Amino acid sequence: MMTTKDHAYEGDDPGKMRVPPDLPQHAWQFAAIRHQGQRYPGTELPYLVHIGAVLLNLLPVLQEMPLLDSALAQCCAILHDTVEDTNTTGDEIRAQFGEQVAAGVLALTKDKTLEKRLSMLDSLRRIRMQPREIWMVKLADRTANLGEAPVHWTREKCLAYAEEGQLILDALGGVSEVLAKRLSERITAWKTKYVEQSSLRR
Ligand code: NI
Repeated sequence: MMTTKDHAYEGDDPGKMRVPPDLPQHAWQFAAIRHQGQRYPGTELPYLVHIGAVLLNLLPVLQEMPLLDSALAQCCAILHDTVEDTNTTGDEIRAQFGEQVAAGVLALTKDKTLEKRLSMLDSLRRIRMQPREIWMVKLADRTANLGEAPVHWTREKCLAYAEEGQLILDALGGVSEVLAKRLSERITAWKTKYVEQSSLRR
């Protein structure tokens, strides 16, 4: 039987350098500063609550997949919205966290010059060119976002968001059975709550 110890430092590609294990803590400080003052949309909660939720979805799955670079996945999860939602640049991420993390974060960043649906398809295409760790971050991110819908969202917007979730699941779900199952369950529950039974929403 193979143990975690036998494979802890091999990764998918034995020649690939792993992200240092202390880097996620540095990323956490960085994200806390960059997202400072931001609220999670539709709530009074600090934005880091969302980042924490993504990490919480990801960590147990990473523990079960020792061949993956856990620190890479954690860094990209923690930094996934810094370029899209703050004034942080990809060059800053590269300088502080290295090429692999920067490439992952940039793939997770939507191109805002594209129309909404196209920008998601474009990001998914770029994520699929990245290591599996980055696919997992996107699955964990959407799972985290399919909890409570912001009160001002219409039924139509909630449906579109669930359908976009399905698009993400179809494109990336093959990377982890556990994450795919969880996202699928969230999509179903969200549709029941906000689309089928949502007589209160416009
Ligand atoms: Ni996010």
